[in-house]
Amino acid sequence: MTYASAVLIGYDYWRRRRDQVEERVQWNPERLANHHVGIAGAPGAGKTHWIRNFIEGQSDDVEVDIFDYHGDIEVPGAKTVLFSESTKYGFNPLVLNPDPDYGGVRRAVNDVIAAIGNTSRALGTNQESVLRNLLTDAYSLKGISATNPSTWYRNEATDEQIHRLIEQQDWAGLRQVYPTLHDVTTLARRKLKALWMGIEDKDEGRQVLTAFDEFCRVMATLNQRRMKNASQASDDTELAQLDSKLGSIKMRALDGFGTFLERMQSGREFEEVVKYNSKDVLLSVINRLENLQAIGIFNSNPPPFGNARIRRYNIKPLAQSEDELRMFVHFRLQAIIREEMQRGEAHGRIRRLVVVDECVLFNDESRSNPINVIATQMRKFGLALLQAGQSPTHMSEEFLSSAGTLLLLNLSPTIWDSAARRLKIDQKMLQYLQPQHTGAVRLTEKGQIPAFKQVYFA
Ligand SMILES: Nc1ncnc2c1ncn2[C@@H]1O[C@H](COP(=O)(O)OP(=O)(O)OP(=O)(O)O)[C@@H](O)[C@H]1O
Ligand SMILES: [Mg+2]
Repeated sequence: MTYASAVLIGYDYWRRRRDQVEERVQWNPERLANHHVGIAGAPGAGKTHWIRNFIEGQSDDVEVDIFDYHGDIEVPGAKTVLFSESTKYGFNPLVLNPDPDYGGVRRAVNDVIAAIGNTSRALGTNQESVLRNLLTDAYSLKGISATNPSTWYRNEATDEQIHRLIEQQDWAGLRQVYPTLHDVTTLARRKLKALWMGIEDKDEGRQVLTAFDEFCRVMATLNQRRMKNASQASDDTELAQLDSKLGSIKMRALDGFGTFLERMQSGREFEEVVKYNSKDVLLSVINRLENLQAIGIFNSNPPPFGNARIRRYNIKPLAQSEDELRMFVHFRLQAIIREEMQRGEAHGRIRRLVVVDECVLFNDESRSNPINVIATQMRKFGLALLQAGQSPTHMSEEFLSSAGTLLLLNLSPTIWDSAARRLKIDQKMLQYLQPQHTGAVRLTEKGQIPAFKQVYFA
């Protein structure tokens, strides 16, 4: 078994200054409580430099996924794929992990909802439930059932292959592939039509409902009067009038119901209406889905990584929209988490390293954020996270408190105060850090109380 080789970070600053002794400070994964690494530094301080060092220091059986926001993390042996509106590489979010314990419809649906909801435009409760129903129904149309794992195996087809199947009218073939976002949008438009057809409380549907309401009301009045008449002698003409009114309302209601019943097809129209809420909500969900499709990152054109061990996602072209970036990275991280859980426990070894630069874009304090899930739960599955940003405050509390390694490079003076408070250290430690020469590192070794140590870089 090969273990990750250590990464030399530098030499103990005080041992050199005080005692003229060169004491190595090393990143040794076997000795650390966990393999997560946080790197903070001002622009040009050397974050990318250290990202490269850490990647190159991994043993050659560690898989690496690099989310390269600046497009500058060149690593020997890495396969780079550019994600842009023109290359159109993307992942179909509806492809299922067929594992009965770690995969399935419900998890896939939750992942899509989490990725969309975790952006600047969160999903409302109604939107979320409409989207959940749409996604589940899109699977059902392919014969994929949330409760039956034997239906979770389908083929992954590219957009082009799907087009060909449609052209050849190969419906059986189409059923054998996973649904796509395009399928979901098409389905949503059909549901919207159904709502417009008057099954809802609008137009003809409203006439039916109004007539029914009136019928109930008149009948109640009539009954009341009848009761009254039974106890005291009174006017029968009023009763007769009410009776005939009831008759004509009944005809109207029956007419409306007739139309309604004739338009029914599945026998599940009522459930559909309840599920799909209102036209406004459905329309807003369709808009969100169409925007997603336009971006391309959720289209079915798998990036050509082949079987490369180091995969570099160049996501620089997506940088115009923080929401897109966030969705893309979070969605990939969720898939990676599931893959590694499925592979089972790693018995203390690093199996896969995920690298995230400019981490301010991807961190928040939500427990479902995949960054926090990796930070707190993925150690035993051998998944490590290396993230870099301009300030430690750009990393979530969960990550900062759990990361086995924190490397502070020269930080911008404007953040000394907030960074020192967040890390509960003396500001002075940050003030003396020299770009590319010195840093402060906190290595949480097993059974040791962690503390920051100043280092001269090697
Ligand atoms: N410890 C170091 N030893 C030698 N060169 C270094 C060191 N740290 C950084 N450099 C060099 O300094 C330059 C800037 O470093 P780098 O690109 O890593 O900074 P960065 O923090 O990633 O900046 P940005 O915020 O712009 O992404 C690079 O040319 C890099 O090679
Ligand atoms: Mg950089």
